[in-house]
Amino acid sequence: MANVLAINTKNEKAKIDRNVYGHFAEHLGRCIYEGIWVGEDSDIPNVRGIRSDVVQALKNINIPLIRWPGGCFADEYHWKDGIGPKENRAEMINTHWGGVVENNHFGTHEFFDFCEQIGAEPYICGNVGSGTVQEMSEWVEYITFGGKSPMAELRRKNGRDEPWKMKYWGVGNENWNCGGRMTAEHYADLYNTYNLYSRDYGDNVLYRIACGPRGANYHWTDVMMRKCGMYMDGLALHYYSRLKDTQLQFVQSDGNIMYKRNPVRLDFSATEFDKTEWDMAMRATMFMEELIKKHSAIMDKYDPEKKVSLVIDEWGTWFSVEPGTNPGFLYQQNTLRDALVAGLHFNMFNNNADRIRMTNIAQTINVLQAIILTEGSKMILTPTYHVYDMYKGHMDATQLDFTLLSDDYEADGKVFKKVTASVSRGTDGKVNISLCNMDPENGAKVQCVLDELPAGATIAGTILTSDAMNTHNTFDQPEAIKPKSFTDFTVNGEQMSINLPSKSVTLITIG
Ligand code: AHR
Repeated sequence: MANVLAINTKNEKAKIDRNVYGHFAEHLGRCIYEGIWVGEDSDIPNVRGIRSDVVQALKNINIPLIRWPGGCFADEYHWKDGIGPKENRAEMINTHWGGVVENNHFGTHEFFDFCEQIGAEPYICGNVGSGTVQEMSEWVEYITFGGKSPMAELRRKNGRDEPWKMKYWGVGNENWNCGGRMTAEHYADLYNTYNLYSRDYGDNVLYRIACGPRGANYHWTDVMMRKCGMYMDGLALHYYSRLKDTQLQFVQSDGNIMYKRNPVRLDFSATEFDKTEWDMAMRATMFMEELIKKHSAIMDKYDPEKKVSLVIDEWGTWFSVEPGTNPGFLYQQNTLRDALVAGLHFNMFNNNADRIRMTNIAQTINVLQAIILTEGSKMILTPTYHVYDMYKGHMDATQLDFTLLSDDYEADGKVFKKVTASVSRGTDGKVNISLCNMDPENGAKVQCVLDELPAGATIAGTILTSDAMNTHNTFDQPEAIKPKSFTDFTVNGEQMSINLPSKSVTLITIG
């Protein structure tokens, strides 16, 4: 069967928020330290301690927003330890991630400096698990209050006169497990209090994001929407494309799910895998479609106007760490398989733009599905980085109506559309068609029909693919995989015939 993509460019749907292409950087392994922060005295070129090559790479893909300081780290982070002269900053143990000593040299001021250097909005996640209401309240005051107050004076003493602008504010992270092992009802009550004391100062209005569910924990979403829906702007779902779940789950009689780490070690390499493990990753990724549908249906029940955003503030692959690296640092390589995982996610996110207005990949640098890897002064861009680059035309674009008929692809015992797509009109007026072919062995011919294809329109293609499923960039071969120009399509009137290779992410722009 042929695959058919019929696009109605006149039927415009939701705006794709630029924050769908957001990021997440935690004090975990070598994400912040080495990945972003090298210190002012480093030989690695930097501006006020922040490495310049990474800043440039992030600017190149217009990253809109970055979430910090965690992750699990957020609920043991005490922000006052990370301000003032560096030599006086308190040290702590990063108990979640390798038990290493955190010197707090990268704190609030450094984070805002980093955001300004890359041109991204800050998204800070406050501490509910081990912090107080007062501590959270004072952090917001320190950052955003422009008048005379104890926290604003403290900020001035530390060299920053004007308050920063900060919109995105997270009230705790994964409070169902590493952020406090709470029931949904308990967290919901705490959320309302912590959130209340996180004040809007002057014209700084916080966009309040509550801890959402882990994967298919629908009870959590229901309780949060029922008890806190009117006090939040976003509910943060966390879901990773893991080949096997690493948490044991215990469903209680009241509907709450409690979690515990599975002591059985699961070994799935990021780079050494066969078709079976490729398929497992595709299936794990496509489960996101069910999650979006079911969590959205619960949200619709309480919020039919879709005021609250489903924020997917942690997603991505989770494989075994690279051999010889600290297991607590979650450092993994990144292959063409990760690129497909990213492209499939973006198509799902774009297609649900009416409810999903922010997502953050875990994590930006040197951790999990990283877009950048560093080794000393060297830096490489991963296939996932290139997918961000290829999808950046969808940022702030308008989703366009389309119908897709696709061949089936069976992955790990479940049938999916072999080809997935998303279509938008960019702010530059161009139509962006993004296509993923998840089949690692067979190409796909797509007949694309547009209601209108202006005569003389410029049609350009870009593709990310390779002969091997596990092609990846290394510090010796940094360009083993990168986007190439794609020309394997023909145009006939308002129809295009596109030949997608196996295991590929493709972008066609028209205009
Ligand atoms: O991204 C790594 C960890 O995964 C985060 O700290 C936590 O929120 C999640 O469990």
